[in-house]
Amino acid sequence: MRRLRGRLIQPLVREHVVSKADLVAPLFVDETAAAPVPIASLPGQFRYPAGGIARAVQDLRAKGIYAVLLFGIPAAKDPGASEAFNPDGIVQQAVRSIKEALPDMVVITDVCACEYTDHGHCGILTDGPGGPDLDNDRSLDLMARIAVSHARAGADIVAPSCMLDGMVAAIRGALDHEGFTDTAIMSYSTKFASALYGPFREAADSGYTCGDRSTYQINPANRREAVRESELDAGEGADILMVKPAGFYLDLVAAIRTIGLPVAAYQVSGEYAMIKAAAARGWIDERNVVMESLLCIKRAGADLIITYFAGDAAGWLDEEQ
Ligand code: PBG
Ligand code: ZN
Repeated sequence: MRRLRGRLIQPLVREHVVSKADLVAPLFVDETAAAPVPIASLPGQFRYPAGGIARAVQDLRAKGIYAVLLFGIPAAKDPGASEAFNPDGIVQQAVRSIKEALPDMVVITDVCACEYTDHGHCGILTDGPGGPDLDNDRSLDLMARIAVSHARAGADIVAPSCMLDGMVAAIRGALDHEGFTDTAIMSYSTKFASALYGPFREAADSGYTCGDRSTYQINPANRREAVRESELDAGEGADILMVKPAGFYLDLVAAIRTIGLPVAAYQVSGEYAMIKAAAARGWIDERNVVMESLLCIKRAGADLIITYFAGDAAGWLDEEQ
């Protein structure tokens, strides 16, 4: 085997690469921020005010990143998440300002309610036998409204992350009905009830006040169910499927690739925070671990990778050339 591992020949037989065009940078826009606020749980990441988001996107663009995924933190929350579909809400403002400054940037918006509800759950609550639980079908109307408001602001892709049954069909129907037939849907189709979202909930102020998300997100023990979730969303008209988190779930990336749609993998906040924390202690080399993690996500079969390392990785990829 070592004949092909010589320094001259090895590059010729390389099977997988990470390229900047594969990377999507998640960004937080905060209606209450006056200037970029550092996120303690995600060192190097910030909550941006609507007025500062175009500048942050410009910096990413200068590094060769072409796509961003927006999360909003509203000034006010209520049980029905009404700020999530406000035409002048924080995400809607951010989309407009990015598209104005950089029309050829791909703007993806997270469609969910958990940053906008006072209880912190991903939709409208109802009383269930074991306590409050998501009301699936009433929450579908909410997701459709949010998605249409993002499309109207100029989003290229809407990304529902609520894990409600029927969310893709509801959103596709509403988008088409409102004339947004070209707005694509990237479904968080295979999203696990993972402990790796901890730092995000601090970043997006989306922690819940009761219960947990295990009645709508997938049990990490279940592989067949996880594949079926993505198959159902493909059938409902999703354009891009997603596996989330990425690194612990590469078997699902490989499995869902066979459905035939493009597959996104989300390297989530806990994956980022673990690498950052170990690197800060000098226990691992940040750059090498990050690039290995992204390469292995590609090797498993992801077409695109959503990662908080997008900007840094783009810089490192430039240095490799
Ligand atoms: C909201 C949402 C979450 C993430 C993306 N969208 C949190 C959750 O479901 O609790 C997690 C992202 C990350 O951890 O980086 N539905
Ligand atoms: Zn949510």
